[in-house]
Amino acid sequence: MTGNELIDLEITLLMEGIYQVYGYDFREYSEASLRRRLLQWLSGSGFASLSLAQSQLLRDHTLFDTLLRGITVTVSDMFRDPAFFKAVRTQVVPYLKTYPFVKIWHAGCASGDEAYSMAIILLEEGMKGRFRIYATDINEEVIRKAQEGIYPLQDLQRFTRNYQSAGGKGSFSDYYTARYDHAILAQPLRDNIVFAAHNLAVDTNFGEMNLILCRNVMIYFKLPLKERVLELFDNCLMPGGFLCLGTKENLDHRKISDRYEAIMPRMQIYQKRYERSK
Ligand SMILES: C[S@@+](CC[C@H](N)C(=O)[O-])C[C@H]1O[C@@H](n2cnc3c(N)ncnc32)[C@H](O)[C@@H]1O
Repeated sequence: MTGNELIDLEITLLMEGIYQVYGYDFREYSEASLRRRLLQWLSGSGFASLSLAQSQLLRDHTLFDTLLRGITVTVSDMFRDPAFFKAVRTQVVPYLKTYPFVKIWHAGCASGDEAYSMAIILLEEGMKGRFRIYATDINEEVIRKAQEGIYPLQDLQRFTRNYQSAGGKGSFSDYYTARYDHAILAQPLRDNIVFAAHNLAVDTNFGEMNLILCRNVMIYFKLPLKERVLELFDNCLMPGGFLCLGTKENLDHRKISDRYEAIMPRMQIYQKRYERSK
């Protein structure tokens, strides 16, 4: 067995152990990125190999948490891909406005930037009091951070630029208060968002939604897990509801694809058909 094959075996055994002990299922994550991130974690861990780390990882929750943080890529941004958020504002929100109340799910929300961006758009489009956003992630630490809504001051210039490019109608400074080296987001934004831990690989239905966004999350999943998660979203979405994916993702050749119409294919915005095609 080559050194690389041995590492792959160690990863398989460790992922199985983690699933059995903690219920986190990384067995169907794409190998290349998982391997890269595990080896990165290993190099800073003090263990000589994943096998040697395994027995402690399976017993020590705190150590496991450091691995979990290493495995999950939690990069996000306020109004990430501004053209996408502009499209949501012009193409999706007018439809949402036809409902008295809408429910939106950001699955894999990381630090919550996307969910806060959506809250800003909905408030600016006159939907105050008519929406609830559920923002979930597998990583509990990142969810706690998202809940706080605190960002380093140096990020604010970029957020402001993105907000303007995404068709912001006011001034981004209306949505935060600056304090020394950080900014805290305004309470009305946080009031409309429920943050919760949710694992797309093992947890189930999250209720009936008008809009689901799962951007830059499934790129880390192997095909069978992608299919299962898309099926989960399909079960949660009302007919006529919208599904939004990341810029490098799409529904091509997926099992649910014939139930959806790509209303803005380049933006990965899909609308669920009212009737299933035969
Ligand atoms: C790159 S971030 C994307 C954040 C945001 N959606 C965006 O596009 O800016 C990917 C997020 O997916 C989360 N994630 C990974 N596997 C997950 C799973 N099985 N269930 C829920 N969230 C998961 C990670 O913790 C991470 O926060």
